[in-house]
Amino acid sequence: MKGVILAGGTGSRLKPFTLFLNKHLLPVGHYPMIYWPIITLRDAGIRDILIVTNKSHLASFIELLGDGEELQVSLQYKVQRNEGGGIADALKSASNFIGKEKFVLILGDNIYFDSIAPYVNAFMEQQQGARVLLKEVKDPTRYGVPELDENNKKILSIIEKPVHPPSTYCVTGMYLYDSNVFSLIDAIHPSKRNELEITDVNNLYIKKNLLEYDIISGWWIDAGTHESLNQASNYFFEKSGEDE
Ligand code: G1P
Repeated sequence: MKGVILAGGTGSRLKPFTLFLNKHLLPVGHYPMIYWPIITLRDAGIRDILIVTNKSHLASFIELLGDGEELQVSLQYKVQRNEGGGIADALKSASNFIGKEKFVLILGDNIYFDSIAPYVNAFMEQQQGARVLLKEVKDPTRYGVPELDENNKKILSIIEKPVHPPSTYCVTGMYLYDSNVFSLIDAIHPSKRNELEITDVNNLYIKKNLLEYDIISGWWIDAGTHESLNQASNYFFEKSGEDE
């Protein structure tokens, strides 16, 4: 299976750093943020990885990561044409790289502290469709939030940044897709914030009854704000302190 990491966007919640630096190159623990999603994919056996980023930041990623050999992965790069176009718009750039295969998409600011291998394996068994990973959170209004039918293990709908969240779970930034995702992206329209929302794509999978989910057990964080970036770093430093 292949992997796609989205590492573009504007990083508006991490200004002023992101006025001159790509968010995914900011430090988290001992490494630039982008190392963590690469390691997460690699440790689940996904070594063929595409990084999608902004034109102005491409050179920095190549300088840092090259072809991926040092991290024991094979990296390719693609420029995201519309920096503020949203997650689904950025994913479009990966369609040639993916072809007809199933793949894992990870947002470059999402850090998973435990192995994702069980979810990747479950998706390999899944005949068709998509799979999302949920986590219980204190403030669901920051995220895409699922309305769940837990008895039947089904997601009924997902609402992006709801004022009145239908559950205490959020959809984390890792999505397992079949290649039909690209035709579903073509069927959606820009949202109120003028982005092609990945939540709209997932809702189309729900309509077809083709969206499965897992609730992840390990620690996870979206490190896209000053507070959460700091929390993520602290977690790694505390953990490395424990190992000494
Ligand atoms: C994005 C998704 C949202 C998801 C979140 C996870 O939000 O739109 O559904 O819950 O990533 O990190 P954004 O970072 O664009 O605000």
